[in-house]
Formats: sequence, structure tokens, C-alpha cells
Amino acid sequence: MRDCRFTQKRISPEENIHPEETGNWLQYLKYNYSVNKMNLNSDLYSINPIPFPSVKRFFKETLPQLGWNKNDENEVGFDAGCGPGGTTVEWILPLFPKLKIFYAVDILTNMIELAQKENFHPKIEYSVANMEDWSTIKHWKGQITKLVSVYSLQWLKDQRQGFQNVYQLLKAGGEAAILYVMESPLFPTLVEMQNKPKWNKFFEGIDLHISDAYHKKFNASYYKEILKEIGFDILYCKEEMTDDVFISEKQYKDFFTSICVLKSHVPENKEEEFEKEFFEAMDKYNGRNANESPVHRGKILELLIRKPDNTRI
Ligand SMILES: C[S@@+](CC[C@H](N)C(=O)[O-])C[C@H]1O[C@@H](n2cnc3c(N)ncnc32)[C@H](O)[C@@H]1O
Repeated sequence: MRDCRFTQKRISPEENIHPEETGNWLQYLKYNYSVNKMNLNSDLYSINPIPFPSVKRFFKETLPQLGWNKNDENEVGFDAGCGPGGTTVEWILPLFPKLKIFYAVDILTNMIELAQKENFHPKIEYSVANMEDWSTIKHWKGQITKLVSVYSLQWLKDQRQGFQNVYQLLKAGGEAAILYVMESPLFPTLVEMQNKPKWNKFFEGIDLHISDAYHKKFNASYYKEILKEIGFDILYCKEEMTDDVFISEKQYKDFFTSICVLKSHVPENKEEEFEKEFFEAMDKYNGRNANESPVHRGKILELLIRKPDNTRI
């Protein structure tokens, strides 16, 4: 495995005590060092590789209709933000019956380790890399013929840089299919939980990894503009409201707990209380369907973009 720069560790409850409570400056430095590191639960995430029917539709119907049903043995694929690899193997790889190689990267070491263990495939090479940091992906410059990214690029701090890096990775004529989360009930829930006086001391300065579209009220035309500025041809761009029903309460809870960036900063003895309040807030923003089943009501940007044929690399 190629490991570039990023490691993460779970913050122990002892370290997770805010310095105001302890007066311990060494602890304070350790706290600040770890506070901005993203920590997601890969084991919990991998139980349900992206459980959304709308994502499956995109791979099974939309992309084949847009010409992604024809490919050859020279295809070089890439999954940006692959998580533990379940979506890569189950939904993305079937699009490429013929393929030279498929690279799949994620910023988190635990995601990649799990992908290598649980979702091994002879054609997939998993590595740790940061889509925002060109130095960690530059060895693939101009090589990728088909790039996919599912629910990942909105996690980047500098999302324009992420799109720019996608452009640099693609070979001339190469295409990228991206599902980008513009709005999700998760976003206001994280903001609410971070700002609650009761929890705030544990979450100061933590990056919530929320989409620019949510904070700045960008719509699809904003993204189209920046993609055009970068040099992409836009083949398909659709802003879609999704209403994805979870098959069980457990699936819903496992999924959102696994991607809750605040969770690992909660002391162990307060985890249960935090989860209860977190899901009360989720229910408030998310709602349920007529059968009381949990749903994900998100606004998703579906994109198919191409690096023009006439570029030099
Ligand atoms: C919601 S998960 C989606 C995972 C996978 N694409 C799927 O469909 O199941 C988002 C993933 O993006 C990864 N991620 C976040 N920021 C990243 C970055 N800067 N570079 C690479 N991966 C990143 C996270 O670690 C996480 O595994």
C-alpha cells in the first residue's frame, strides 16, 4: 500500500478532555494536534456499501445510457474517495468488464486497509491519498481514462482544487462521473451538534467537512462555471433531490454514525447520550416516509465531465 502523509488515531477519552477542564498544556497540544484529523468508522461504514437506491440507479442506468457501457482493455479507472471499497467492487467495477487497471484511493488509512482485506480484486490497486493534495496523486497524472467519485468530493476543504486535480489525473478525452452531495440532513445536524453548549467544548475547531453548496448556497450553475473554467466539457449535469429509504433502522444508524466526524471526539462515557441527540436532530432535518422508515433526503449533483481530446496530456 502506498501511504502518503495521512494517519489517524482514535482520540482516547483521557486526551479528549478539554484543556479548560484540566489546565494540562501537554494534553492541550495533543488535543489540538488530533482535533482536525478526520476519523470515520470504517468497520461500521463497510457493513452497508453506500446503501442508496439513487446511487445504484446512476451506475446501472444513467452512466450506461451516457455511453459508459462501452469500454476496452486499455481503460484505466480511478475511484476518488473509495471508502472501504464496497461501492467500488459492487457498483463501479461492473461498468468495466474490460480493464487494464483500477486505482482506488481514500484519505483514511483505516478505509484502505479494510478495502484491501474485504474488497480485494486483482484489477484494483488501493492506496491512501488525498484528492486535495496533488503531491499524493501526481504519479497518475494524465493516465486515467475513467474516474468515478461517489459522495466524496464535498468532503474536501478546497473543492475547486479537488476538481482541478481530477482534470490533471485524466488523460485527454478521459471522463469523470461524480456524485457530489450538495445538501444532506447530516449537514445541519453536525452544525447543530457542534454548536450545542453541552458538546461544544469537545468539538471546537473541528472541520465538519460540509459541502460548499450547503454553506454558501451554491447551485449547479456555480459548479458548471468552475468546471468550465478548469477546462472540462460538461456532458451531463443534473441536480437531483433524492428520497432514499433505508431498509432498516440499523442500516440508517450504522451509516450516519460511521460518517459522523464528531463521534470520535466524544468521550467514551458520553457516546450513548451523544448518539441519542445526534439522531433526534437527524430525524428533525430528515423526516421519515409514510411508513415511518428513515430516509435520506439529499440534494445530489450528478456529473459527467470530459477532459477535451485536444489537450496536451
Ligand atoms: C461517504 S464516504 C463515500 C465512500 C465511497 N465512495 C462509497 O461510495 O461508499 C466519503 C469518503 O471520502 C473520503 N475522503 C474524504 N476526504 C478525502 C480526500 N481529501 N481525499 C480522498 N478521500 C477523501 C472519506 O475518507 C470517506 O471514505
